[in-house]
Amino acid sequence: MTAMCLAHVVAAPRVLMRHLLTLFDWSTDTIRDVYARSAALKEAFGRGERLDRHPRRVCALLFEKPSLRTRVSFEAAMTHLGGSTLYLGNDVGWGQRESIADFAAVLGNYVDVVVCRAFAHERVELLAQHSAAPVINGLTDSFHPCQALADLFTLQEHFGSLEDVTLAYVGDANNVARSLAVCCARLSVRFCLAAPKPYQFDEPFLERLREAFPQWRLEQTEDPYAAVADAHAVYTDVWTSMGQEDEREVRRQVFRPYQVNQSLMEAAPTYAVFMHCLPAHRGEEVTDEVIDGARSIVLVQAENRMHVQKGILDRILGQDES
Ligand code: CP
Ligand code: NVA
Repeated sequence: MTAMCLAHVVAAPRVLMRHLLTLFDWSTDTIRDVYARSAALKEAFGRGERLDRHPRRVCALLFEKPSLRTRVSFEAAMTHLGGSTLYLGNDVGWGQRESIADFAAVLGNYVDVVVCRAFAHERVELLAQHSAAPVINGLTDSFHPCQALADLFTLQEHFGSLEDVTLAYVGDANNVARSLAVCCARLSVRFCLAAPKPYQFDEPFLERLREAFPQWRLEQTEDPYAAVADAHAVYTDVWTSMGQEDEREVRRQVFRPYQVNQSLMEAAPTYAVFMHCLPAHRGEEVTDEVIDGARSIVLVQAENRMHVQKGILDRILGQDES
């Protein structure tokens, strides 16, 4: 991957891009620009440099669900860039003590950017609608755009380019799968989902994809072996996402044939890597042997969350620089 010089990316003309909610509203150029920033910042970090690009900028983290990676990688990223963070958790009463509109209008005047993790996607949309500060979706029941951006960046690093790359996602068509599909569509990466029919992408989402990306085709199958046959990456996520705990037993039964184990990895090409957004439910969607095996790049994915989020913050906060 070619790392762009930061002095150059800052001087380049930018299309106004305020929020990051789903990736449907981000262009391919915007993603490529974020990747160039991420690569440059990652390289600098590797040399021991923590570039003070956003001193005294403040990022608020508003989280309704638990988080390790998203929370800590944003906090570390913001600190490395010279700014600071406020972890608000879920005790500030947004939509409870006062309306989301009033809450957003006030919060957006205190901070420069808000990262929000919520159950209902509509809450993040409402926050963005009323916030003076840009809002970044840190996961909702419907989407996880920061995860998908980091994952495609990781694949680009691993294979040198995303050209002719195929990603096979084996498991629930959840928030992570949706964002991966949108990001793959944006970057022209082939995407195939293997899941039992009732757990595949729903028609409204498929329709939205068809409308936004008429040239791009998503494949869905019930056969995990067919899905991975020509994959560069075999990706899975938990069968039971946060908020679905009541369905755990049913899901464990239904998804059992979709476990990513040695036998499934052997059906993929030898160059295929294993990916997972983490946290994993070991022994359910993936075996220890696969997640700890030589083909697993899950820790690189997790590390890249921080580097790519620096790229995202740099792009969003950098808009005021020129
Ligand atoms: N992958 C991910 O978003 O992890 P966390 O839930 O720990 O943030
Ligand atoms: N699909 C998972 C992703 C966690 C990062 C969940 O929503 O719980």
